[in-house]
Amino acid sequence: MILLETKNLCKSFDGVKALDNVSIEVERNKLTLVMGPNGSGKSTLINAISGFIKVDSGRVLFENRDITNREPHEIYNYGIVRTFQNPEPLKSMTVLENVLIGRKHSGEEITNALFPSRWMKEEEELVERAFKILEFLKLDHRWDHPSKSLSGGQMKLLEIGRALITDPKLIIMDEPIAGVAPGLAHNIFSHVVELKNRGISFLIVEHRLDIVLKYVDNLYVMFNGSVIAHGKGRDEIEKVLKDPKVTEVYIGD
Ligand SMILES: Nc1ncnc2c1ncn2[C@@H]1O[C@H](COP(=O)(O)OP(=O)(O)OP(=O)(O)O)[C@@H](O)[C@H]1O
Ligand SMILES: [Mg+2]
Repeated sequence: MILLETKNLCKSFDGVKALDNVSIEVERNKLTLVMGPNGSGKSTLINAISGFIKVDSGRVLFENRDITNREPHEIYNYGIVRTFQNPEPLKSMTVLENVLIGRKHSGEEITNALFPSRWMKEEEELVERAFKILEFLKLDHRWDHPSKSLSGGQMKLLEIGRALITDPKLIIMDEPIAGVAPGLAHNIFSHVVELKNRGISFLIVEHRLDIVLKYVDNLYVMFNGSVIAHGKGRDEIEKVLKDPKVTEVYIGD
């Protein structure tokens, strides 16, 4: 079943076509990977889907609803959350606070001055959920540490925690394991697999194919703003990886 779909997305920056008729499908409960050499338009695609840039033409459909060029907080509220290529957790805040703040970004305010006891209850429930998420990510023992004390890999896990507090249907991640040692990178993806089993779908951009490929259900390859190949399922993915169109664009990369 298709959760998210882009149809002929186009976006130019000063005459450079960063997206040139990009059409992709993100299936529910699957991990969809977008790969491609530097500058091929992968981050632009993520930015367009999540509302961080406005496209020139084309459409983004989420659960068959047109969400093209909506504001990031609206897209957030539909259940799409993203992480960034260079994550910037608020470093002076604790690990727990960083997870909680993920929720606040949704624009959903839990304030009710007239009924403070109810407010307390919701706030308590939120903290409880944040702890459950940290437990799942095995970061709970660090809950009161400043997030700047985390390793690079733990920081990436914290990014996932910030996404999870919003109860997302789709998590979009831009290079979630860039600069992360192989052991931890597999650890991050084992969490992704577990979350997939619990009903969350993933759209991921990543260069580290040696690590990520074994977790991928569907694959798109981008080059110069276009999708040049795609495959669903293991057999098709293997074919895509051997496709001369694909191997060619990686020569010299
Ligand atoms: N905000 C912007 N202003 C101008 N040009 C941009 C902007 N964002 C992206 N571009 C250009 O669009 C093209 C695609 O960039 P994009 O960042 O999407 O590539 P990418 O596939 O994510 O690359 P990388 O693997 O290096 O992260 C590049 O030519 C880039 O210079
Ligand atoms: Mg990028």
